[in-house]
Amino acid sequence: MVKKKLIYLDNAATSFPKPEQVYQKMDHCMRNIGANPGRSGHRMAIKADEMVYNTRETIKKLFNISNSENIIFTSNATIALNLGIKGVLQKGDEVISSSIEHNSVFRPLMQLIKKGVRVKFIPCSEDGFLDPDDVEKAVTDKTKLIIVNHASNVTGNITPIKEIGKIAKRSGAIFFIDAAQTAGNISIDVKRDYIDMLACSGHKSLLGPQGTGILYVRPGIELNTIIEGGTGSSSESENQPELLPDKLESGTLNTVGIVGLGAGVDFILKTGLDKIRNRKVFLTIKLLKGLENLNGIKIYGPGDAGKIVPIVSFNINSIDPSEVGYLLDERFGIMTRVGLHCSPLAHKTIGSFPKGTVRVSLGYFNTEGDIDYLINSLKNILKTKA
Ligand SMILES: Cc1ncc(COP(=O)(O)O)c(C=O)c1O
Repeated sequence: MVKKKLIYLDNAATSFPKPEQVYQKMDHCMRNIGANPGRSGHRMAIKADEMVYNTRETIKKLFNISNSENIIFTSNATIALNLGIKGVLQKGDEVISSSIEHNSVFRPLMQLIKKGVRVKFIPCSEDGFLDPDDVEKAVTDKTKLIIVNHASNVTGNITPIKEIGKIAKRSGAIFFIDAAQTAGNISIDVKRDYIDMLACSGHKSLLGPQGTGILYVRPGIELNTIIEGGTGSSSESENQPELLPDKLESGTLNTVGIVGLGAGVDFILKTGLDKIRNRKVFLTIKLLKGLENLNGIKIYGPGDAGKIVPIVSFNINSIDPSEVGYLLDERFGIMTRVGLHCSPLAHKTIGSFPKGTVRVSLGYFNTEGDIDYLINSLKNILKTKA
């Protein structure tokens, strides 16, 4: 088979391509606005400030957030998770998490263990499913925080956050979700789902550019800061301002990125999340069917498009996943991600540690043809490697 074109199936790492309006809005901002928001009082700075504000308002709608000041811009989900986790937890606190967490939750928690925080990682099923009953059993009166992955970046499995949110509310613990793989993929409503804090990337299914991320903090939750500095507000004070978003947004913002993120979220709102979800479920069903028909394939996770975001991990025969990924790229121009996906815990849970899996993650702009091409390419690899 001859390499035809590039097929991008790595949307869980970062989405590509972005909607056209993202490129246009960023280009316009870079060329015409360019100033620092929230700092100087001149008209260009005011315009930049307005554009950042507009993105906050757009994101507010997507997650049913009451006040846009409670949305903090970060450079990715990792920074948002660190700000939230380290802003809440102190020596002697207890936190509940799970065995499918990404390193951006796992490593900060491991670091905090060294500082006297007690962490319980609840084991998930072999499918990567976190059972709310197991969370409930682990809660004690010392539980300060419950932090869970809303959907695994390895199996795509969606966690029943509303059930876990209710448990957190009953116990008085803060409920924090890692929505890196769900924001822009499935419906999230911070009120309906009892979410106190949410962290996500802007560059994955929210369709913004790299260098963007979000932290939402419910009104009433006071985070300690881990970064202090210039905010353009209360500059006479030697202390960090208490008001959000300034308290958690020190330093110059990524205005161009934030504008691109606003355009991505605007695309989602205008297209409709249901339409986006239905399209991705449709493509995932086709992907799963195609993979299931291959000889010697092992698919990880529930294998049900309705229970996952459009992420499918698999291995074929005894071929090393890194070799499959290499051949897909080299021979066929198909981009997947192989290995541990920064989630060794999840791979230990599903039994694919240490080699990991081949991961295919679909985006709204993928086509049925992309999936046919992938399946034919895998058949070809199987033939030549058998
Ligand atoms: C579940 C999950 N959490 C957190 C992250 C970290 O996201 P970012 O790269 O935006 O920091 C990722 C990235 O793949 C992820 O999949």
